Amino acid sequence: MNEPVLKITVLCENNVGVPLGLVGEWGLAMLVETAGMKILFDTGEQGYLLANAVNLGVDLKSVDTLVMSHGHYDHTGGMRAFLHLRGQLPVYAHPDFFISHYSSLNKPHYIGVPFCKEELESSGAEFIFTHEPREIAPGVWISGEVPRKTDFEKGDSRLFCLENGKTLLDPLHDDLSLYCITPKGLVIILGCAHAGLVNIVKQAQKVTGVNQVYGIIGGTHLGPTPVAQQEATIAFLQSLKLQFLAPNHCTGLPMMARLAGVFGPSFRFAPVGSSFTLPIND
Ligand SMILES: [Fe+2]
Ligand SMILES: [Fe+2]
Repeated sequence: MNEPVLKITVLCENNVGVPLGLVGEWGLAMLVETAGMKILFDTGEQGYLLANAVNLGVDLKSVDTLVMSHGHYDHTGGMRAFLHLRGQLPVYAHPDFFISHYSSLNKPHYIGVPFCKEELESSGAEFIFTHEPREIAPGVWISGEVPRKTDFEKGDSRLFCLENGKTLLDPLHDDLSLYCITPKGLVIILGCAHAGLVNIVKQAQKVTGVNQVYGIIGGTHLGPTPVAQQEATIAFLQSLKLQFLAPNHCTGLPMMARLAGVFGPSFRFAPVGSSFTLPIND
């Protein structure tokens, strides 16, 4: 049962990990390969995933499905460039994907999808909007809308949306994650974890029926959260006995350094150019 079943390659991230002419940008995109399917999870901010993929020897034309973690610009900005290269394919997203996401950081500004739905459809996106969890390949699930259950995961107070001209704290209902079942347990792949990392893990266990969590990779959004949430989340992660933890993107470097100290050999940096075949044989 030790054979690798899942390969994850980081195509866009804030940092570059290997000197191969790769470009870093504030954003996230990862290629998830299973035995029978290639899934692109997000597209980064500015379309550098195309050049990075070429430099890494990754063929994006053979991607079967695009899954969008949520409607922020740093995960969606590469959609048009990718669609022009790839052409028509299914694109999974939450129905709130195109709502008016804003940030009040520095000054209020729009941080939602930088393209309209019609333009992306003209470029080949066949949107499949889902509130519900969905198995898109054998053992690979989209989380669906993640119920907010913990009392300490309240979302990022700097993020808001507009509804009928009124400003509301952005609930980011569109935050989706990927859940992959491997022989050693779940691998959870995060976009920005706006739904709360603990909520996302609990939803993964419920949706898949698998309790053992082998690993977590992606943006945890732990850096910008209150200290009480950070500490409660770290304690929860420790209780999972993770064998692989690769937080990147909105986790922020200070929090990554903290997690590296706490999780020791289970911790992995996951910048552009990193690639993980899971479960790791040991
Ligand atoms: Fe992000
Ligand atoms: Fe985000």
